[in-house]
Amino acid sequence: MTQDAAASTPHLHVMDHPLVDHKLAILRARETPSHVFRQTLQELSWLMAHPTFAALKTETAQIDTPLEAMDVRRMASPFPCLVSILRAGNGLIDGFSQICPEASIGHLGLYRDHETMKPVAYYSSLPGDIEIRQVILGDPMLATGGSAIMAVDTLRDKGVSDIVFACLVAAPEGVAALHGSYPDVPIITAALDRELNDSCYILPGLGDAGDRIYGTE
Ligand code: PRP
Ligand code: URA
Repeated sequence: MTQDAAASTPHLHVMDHPLVDHKLAILRARETPSHVFRQTLQELSWLMAHPTFAALKTETAQIDTPLEAMDVRRMASPFPCLVSILRAGNGLIDGFSQICPEASIGHLGLYRDHETMKPVAYYSSLPGDIEIRQVILGDPMLATGGSAIMAVDTLRDKGVSDIVFACLVAAPEGVAALHGSYPDVPIITAALDRELNDSCYILPGLGDAGDRIYGTE
């Protein structure tokens, strides 16, 4: 799938905002040091929370202001669960949890095998009642889509129906793969890039997200 074709994928939301582009430019630049990368990713995750949480379930409740009673809209219980695909997903999910501290946090440990480029699962920790929660699944990179699909497989096996996937940079190949397996899972991304290279890295991309966050290059 080309970048243009991917752009018209239903349920794909590509952010279009000067601050998002500015922060993404910092993340993409080769010379950006790890500590600046982490700080900028945190700031970008706050901006991404806006479209990512847009479909959050709410309820109406009556509260008293100091002056009178009023009906307010607030997050419905049970609160959502933020699920990080380790390890790079923590960069996004930490920021989301600062915006929405009531949410519980789950972790799915996956890494891409360097030979096969297929995801390998090594860890899982999710709330016991995750099937009744909305889930926001975060990973900065949607490349082949293998890791995101494996994470959604795991959540669906646990009975989760309501999942939003948030990433910083998506490749057309990853959008096609995730949408092909799970057309009902919305994808929120800060950018839709051109293509994958022969090593399944996103072009132009930002390199290896985990290494750039944690300085492990
Ligand atoms: C990166 C990234 C995604 C995955 C995307 O993780 O954070 O999880 O690759 O690639 P895919 O769409 O082709 O599956 P990586 O395997 O490098 O692990 P890390 O986060 O521990 O560095
Ligand atoms: N994982 C990354 O961290 N970066 C890519 O470009 C592709 C997969």
